[in-house]
Amino acid sequence: MQYDLTKPNTGRVFDYWLGGTHNFEIDRQFADRIIAQWPLTLVQVKQERGRIKRIVESYYAQGIRAIVDFGCGLPTCENTHIVAHQIDPEIRVVYCDIDPVTAAYGQEILGTEANVAFLQGNAGTPLTTLNAPETLALFGENRLVGFTLLTLAHMLTDEQLLSSWRTLYDWAAPGSRLSATIPSKLWETEPYMNRLVQSYRRANLTSEYRTIPEIEKLISPWKLTPEGIQEVNPTEIPDGDTTKMVNLTYFMTLYKE
Ligand SMILES: C[S@@+](CC[C@H](N)C(=O)[O-])C[C@H]1O[C@@H](n2cnc3c(N)ncnc32)[C@H](O)[C@@H]1O
Repeated sequence: MQYDLTKPNTGRVFDYWLGGTHNFEIDRQFADRIIAQWPLTLVQVKQERGRIKRIVESYYAQGIRAIVDFGCGLPTCENTHIVAHQIDPEIRVVYCDIDPVTAAYGQEILGTEANVAFLQGNAGTPLTTLNAPETLALFGENRLVGFTLLTLAHMLTDEQLLSSWRTLYDWAAPGSRLSATIPSKLWETEPYMNRLVQSYRRANLTSEYRTIPEIEKLISPWKLTPEGIQEVNPTEIPDGDTTKMVNLTYFMTLYKE
C-alpha cells in the first residue's frame, strides 16, 4: 500500500516508541518531539503492553478464547494476538482501529496469519466490527468474548462509551469481560499535564479525562470485578520548585453476569 508520509500516524508512532520497525521518518520525528516534552512516554507505552499480556492471561483463565481489541494500534511489539498465541494459538483475536492507514498496514503485517483479523472500525459503534464477516468467521457462534480498550477511552465521549459498552454487553454471552484503561482527571487539573492535553485539543482530538465517580457512571449494566477501579500509573511530575506523585491512569475489568 501507499502511505501518506506527510503526517505521522498514531499506530506507527506507538510502534516506534515500543522499539518496532514498522514506522517511518515522519513518525520518528513526531515521536521524538513528544518524548522531549514527556520523557515518561517510553516507559508508559511499554508498561501498557505488559498490561495486555496480563489481561489476555486472565481472560484465558476465565475460559475466554475470543478477544476483540478496540483502538489496537499496529499488531506488533507484544500486541494482543502475539501474547495470546504464545498462550494458545487457537485464541481468536479481532483487532479494530478507526484509522484507515493503521488498519491497512495492520492487515499487511498480519498477512495470512491464522486466527487473527484486523478491521477498520469505530469502537463507539462496535456492532459493525462484531457483525463483520471476518469476526463471524473467527468466532462462529461463540459470544464468550473478552474486549479490550487500552489507551482509548479518552478519545471517546461519555455518550459514546455508554452506548458502545451497552452494545457490547447486549451482544456478549454471560461470563464475557471488558477491560479498559482510563486516563485520570489529573491530566486536566495538573498544569504540567494540561499543556499536553491542550496540544491534543488544538489538534481537534477528543480528549476526555475522568474521575472515579465519573467512571462509575459508565459501568452499568456491566459489573465491576472485585479488584475495582485501580490506580495503575503513579507518576512523579514537576510541581513548582519540587515534584509530586499523581495517578495518571485507572484500570478496570468489567464482566457480564
Ligand atoms: C493511543 S493508541 C493505543 C494503541 C494500543 N491500544 C496500545 O495501548 O498500545 C490509540 C489507537 O486508537 C485508535 N482510535 C482512536 N479512536 C478510535 C475509535 N473511536 N475506534 C477505534 N479506534 C480508535 C487510534 O487510531 C490509535 O491507533
